[in-house]
Amino acid sequence: MNHSAASPVGASTPAVAARAIELFKQYGQGETSVTALDHVTIDFRQQEFTAIMGPSGSGKSTLMHTMAGLDSATSGAAFIGETDLSQLSDREITALRRDRLGFIFQSFNLVPTLTAAENITLPVDFAGKKVDKAWFDEITTRLGLAQRLEHRPAELSGGQQQRVACARALVSRPEIIFGDEPTGNLDSNSSAEVLDILRTSVDQDGQTVVIVTHDAKAASYADRIVFLADGRLVHELEDPSMEAIHQIMAEIES
Ligand SMILES: Nc1ncnc2c1ncn2[C@@H]1O[C@H](COP(=O)(O)OP(=O)(O)OP(=O)(O)O)[C@@H](O)[C@H]1O
Ligand SMILES: [Mg+2]
Repeated sequence: MNHSAASPVGASTPAVAARAIELFKQYGQGETSVTALDHVTIDFRQQEFTAIMGPSGSGKSTLMHTMAGLDSATSGAAFIGETDLSQLSDREITALRRDRLGFIFQSFNLVPTLTAAENITLPVDFAGKKVDKAWFDEITTRLGLAQRLEHRPAELSGGQQQRVACARALVSRPEIIFGDEPTGNLDSNSSAEVLDILRTSVDQDGQTVVIVTHDAKAASYADRIVFLADGRLVHELEDPSMEAIHQIMAEIES
């Protein structure tokens, strides 16, 4: 398939789930200012699993956060589907995140006083929508959580807590799931479980997934990897092999 930016719009061109155009983000002013994103233009395609890699401080989290409406850009545009985030009020962005996006963070971000089941349905409940019971059962079974649903986060292992966070992201069938180092606090077994779940959601359910990761093994689950260095997009890999990932990371970091 031709994925190049110049390919004409047509049936074979995958639709864009999120798009950044000349995204620029500067922290602070004057001599002490930091350019975190230096005019990044990128598309994340629907039903694809994309990984964002790059050295520490290269702007990975900033790119994800500005594209997901968690932070605002200094200039440039970020779109979710056809929606230009810069045209929305804070309230509308909050609603967009809740209604159209799913999030998985390194630190799980579960509510300690709620059970696993309550944590999973919280965003849907907040949105005033009804939980699709069959889908809830399907994903909690797939995630191996069926026997853990009445437990609170403190009674779950780190891997189980992150699987609860995955279920919470998946349950509303969001347009995109964004994960900032979703396996950053997990051992290799739990990491593989989380990545398998995300891979399956893309392959079986047509979910769109974008993660930030430091880990070449995690990134190798993706269909495509984009590499950042100093706030710029410097490389892209389709169907990445571990070898190719290591080679590009070594080039960028040297
Ligand atoms: N709130 C902030 N105020 C000032 N500078 C910031 C802020 N957030 C990030 N930065 C700077 O912006 C740059 C990009 O940061 P970002 O967090 O996006 O990097 P990253 O690639 O996610 O790094 P890591 O792999 O360490 O998480 C860094 O130089 C960072 O110090
Ligand atoms: Mg980061």
